[in-house]
Parts: sequence; C-alpha cells; structure tokens
Amino acid sequence: MLSQADRRELDDILKKYPDKRSAVLSALYIAQREKNYLTDDDIRDVAQALDMTVTEVHAIVGFYTLLRKEPTGKYLIQVCTDLPCALRGADDFYRRLCRRQGLPPEGGTTEDGLFTVEEVVCVAACDKAPVAQINLEYHEHLTDEKIDAIIAELREKSTEGVTAG
Ligand code: FES
Repeated sequence: MLSQADRRELDDILKKYPDKRSAVLSALYIAQREKNYLTDDDIRDVAQALDMTVTEVHAIVGFYTLLRKEPTGKYLIQVCTDLPCALRGADDFYRRLCRRQGLPPEGGTTEDGLFTVEEVVCVAACDKAPVAQINLEYHEHLTDEKIDAIIAELREKSTEGVTAG
C-alpha cells in the first residue's frame, strides 16, 4: 500500500506527464522500493492513481522481471542458465550456489531474507558465463569463490550499523 510520502512523491512525478499512464513504471518503482515486491494493494493503489485498470497494471508487472510479486530479498541474484551459458557450466554453477546458500536446487530466498537467487534466460553476456545480475549490476566470468566473496561483502554491508553502536 502506498504511504502518504509515496503518494506525495507520485503526485510530483505525475505533474511531469500529460498522460498519467506514462508514469506507471515510476509509480511501480515507488510502490516496490521499501519491501522489494508488490502486493495486490500496491497494484490497486497504482491503478487508481493513474486511472488504469488493475488488470493493465498486473500485465505490466508481469512483463518486467524486476517488478516482483513475491517477497524478494534485498539482493536479487539472477544467474543466466540459458543454453549458451549452460554450455559454459552456468547450470552447475547455479546449483552449487543454491546449495551453499542453503536453498533448494531451483533457488529461493535465504533464511536471513537478504538474498533471492533465481535462474533467468539470456542477459546478453553469453561469452562471459557464468554471469549473474545482482540488483542490475553485472558480474561476469564468475567462479564459486568470486560469487561467495560478493555475497559475503553484501551481507557484511547489510549488517553494518546493525551491529555497530
Ligand atoms: S545465454 Fe546466458 S547471457 Fe546469453
């Protein structure tokens, strides 16, 4: 559900668009920002604010992989396991990653809620497999050691301030 602050921010954004519907991605970004996924209430609020139907907004959410309808970790790790990457070992790399993170082979969200790991199809870096997109940032030529180091660094960054003071 959009907060008062979210609604004010959305109102400011809407002033820039002659057609409210053009702001749908900005509105969905705002609605998803805090908890990293969209509820049915969020989608209904966005539809109402932009004079769209709930079905239209659902269709847009379904089209963009970065718009999430399931609870998602703070860091979304998307590993390409499409055929060209699989031929370079990306599917085995993915299963090992899931295992080390305590997840089933198909992926999921870590117990601490920080990481969601999932398979995706081509992210246009086929010659650099195994490749992962972590919150839109590309990591190429990955090894088990490299991805573990990235995850450890992100986990440490997330707990900074929580343990301090
Ligand atoms: S098939 Fe994996 S990045 Fe293209």
